Amino acid sequence: MSNRIDVKDLNIYYGDFLAVQDVSMAIEPKSVTAFIGPSGCGKSTFLRTLNRMHEVIPGARVEGTVAMEGVDLYGNGVDPVAVRRQVGMVFQRPNPFPTMSIKENVLAGVKLNNKRISRSDANDLVEASLRGANLWNEVKDRLDRPGSGLSGGQQQRLCIARAIAVKPQVLLMDEPCSALDPISTLAIEDLIAELKDEYTIVIVTHNMQQAARVSDRTAFFNIAGTGKPGRLIEMDDTATMFSSPSQQATEDYISGRFG
Ligand SMILES: Nc1ncnc2c1ncn2[C@@H]1O[C@H](COP(=O)(O)OP(=O)(O)OP(=O)(O)O)[C@@H](O)[C@H]1O
Ligand SMILES: [Mg+2]
Repeated sequence: MSNRIDVKDLNIYYGDFLAVQDVSMAIEPKSVTAFIGPSGCGKSTFLRTLNRMHEVIPGARVEGTVAMEGVDLYGNGVDPVAVRRQVGMVFQRPNPFPTMSIKENVLAGVKLNNKRISRSDANDLVEASLRGANLWNEVKDRLDRPGSGLSGGQQQRLCIARAIAVKPQVLLMDEPCSALDPISTLAIEDLIAELKDEYTIVIVTHNMQQAARVSDRTAFFNIAGTGKPGRLIEMDDTATMFSSPSQQATEDYISGRFG
């Protein structure tokens, strides 16, 4: 059985509004897939359907299928909480829990999942997750200090540590560097390159250089006009998308002619 993500004929609604229309795509395991496209074309909306975060918005729903390892995440009897454990998410603004220490932040997702773990297992998990997020050396002497006391780039890596602590298979990242300076951005990009050995990564970015640097495959979404649904225009190997895309709209977007 394949452990790629297979999206088929997905329509995504907010109430009556069709926000994203008829997307089919395959997301390869242990690789980085970038979503690009102009504001409002539905990149975040589509990303959130990959771990069933979309439906937490009242009236929001989907038609179609999102299959992982051959199982439709929207099938009968599938627990959305279990889906979100398998498919973690990192947001645009680093959002560590402000009242929690660095250590408690790393463990927050694990505790939410009602896992009971011994103190020494917890310590091991905190260290492994912080090492995985390339943050351990910077925080190992202040694990009991508040997560909110870190720099923006460190907070984003803390959020990545929190996401990987629950051992997901997939990491969704919605513009994870847009609030960061160039140095922190490069740190996150290096981290993404390391994480793809273990995780399937999907990243939304407005930064074309970033998409070209970090991703293996790129999907371009576009929108025909206000009130119209976003659509997937094309998806290909990143090198091909940036050198010889097959659609004129992709060419126009990546060369900065619109969006
Ligand atoms: N909670 C919501 N309720 C209703 N409509 C929404 C909601 N969130 C997004 N939309 C609409 O869905 C469409 C797609 O929005 P989305 O945020 O997915 O775009 P995006 O491609 O991520 O844009 P950006 O690049 O600006 O982040 C837009 O028309 C937006 O107004
Ligand atoms: Mg967005």
